Amino acid sequence: MAKGLDVGTMNILSSSPEGDGTKFVQQRNSFVEIEYSDMAEQMLSRSEVLHIRKDDKVYVVGDDALNFANIFNKETRRPMQRGILSSEEASAIPMIKLITEQVVGEPDSPGENLFFSSPADPIDSELSTLYHQKTLESMLGDMGYEPEPINEGMAVIYSELADHNFTGLGVSFGAGMTNVCLAYYAVPVMKFSIARGGDWIDQQASQATGTPVDKVTSIKEDDFALDFQTDVGGVEGALSIYYENLLDYVVEKLSAEVDEEDVEEDLDVPVVVTGGTSSPDGFEKLFEQHLEDVQIPFSISDVQSVDDPLYSVARGALVAARSEEESDGPGAAGVGAPEPED
Ligand SMILES: Nc1ncnc2c1ncn2[C@@H]1O[C@H](COP(=O)(O)OP(=O)(O)OP(=O)(O)O)[C@@H](O)[C@H]1O
Ligand SMILES: [Mg+2]
Repeated sequence: MAKGLDVGTMNILSSSPEGDGTKFVQQRNSFVEIEYSDMAEQMLSRSEVLHIRKDDKVYVVGDDALNFANIFNKETRRPMQRGILSSEEASAIPMIKLITEQVVGEPDSPGENLFFSSPADPIDSELSTLYHQKTLESMLGDMGYEPEPINEGMAVIYSELADHNFTGLGVSFGAGMTNVCLAYYAVPVMKFSIARGGDWIDQQASQATGTPVDKVTSIKEDDFALDFQTDVGGVEGALSIYYENLLDYVVEKLSAEVDEEDVEEDLDVPVVVTGGTSSPDGFEKLFEQHLEDVQIPFSISDVQSVDDPLYSVARGALVAARSEEESDGPGAAGVGAPEPED
């Protein structure tokens, strides 16, 4: 057996084979610190809330963090920021460890293959992904897995472009980052990340309208659509403006990067957009329009969205893990994808 893991700024998901399909387990990559009290003890002991107690503090982690934050009037904290472990959060590593253990569980056999997503270095900030990647690798190794990083954009290609011989442009619009990968027959030709995503949109829209950021996030996730009906002065109007701005920024960086990398000119490739930030209706249309505004030396056959954008990266990591497992095994035929090159 093998597993996939998507370690994202907002969501951590594992994927494993189940029958003919794939089983996903998901938790929010977030926690809240509350004072230990009899009331807290009672609430926690009566439920299956994921938590740990340390001295006079209790940490509630994952999906329940937000509920507890509301009840105890605290703010949630996040182990990751802009795609990688946060340097501003002292508890980042123990918290992410707890969430990951819950999501991925124990290996089915010692040294089970586990491919985990890791972002490419961002082209618009000094952040490096090396420390993040190595820390996760050693944490997963300590849990008994044989961990291997897979680039987040490449995972999108494994997940969504099997029908196109793993050829095309995969873009994962996440919370902390946007990851881009161009692959040709499963070989990455260009990959980079941009240190902006859904969190950036939320922060900008929050500042512009004076609305708390958590409120902006829930408005965005609830029923927001990119339908160009401007809500001047409102949160949805601000969200539309910053969505447009993010897409302008991404296509501009894409155009510059393709230019620098000397990508072959007579390619005709599909583009897949995924990640939580690509969820609103109208997103892929808007991305397509923005792509038309920049110079790209190859042609784009179409822009596709996916049905379940939160699962793409975890699913792709599993495809990669299984294909490596099969190619390692005796007389293995592979599951359709060549061995990952990342
Ligand atoms: N229905 C929705 N509409 C709009 N945005 C959404 C929706 N659902 C989730 N999001 C946003 O998607 C983002 C989370 O997406 P995702 O889980 O792909 O990111 P991540 O993998 O955790 O982050 P990253 O890859 O940047 O590290 C958040 O900004 C969240 O607010
Ligand atoms: Mg992601």
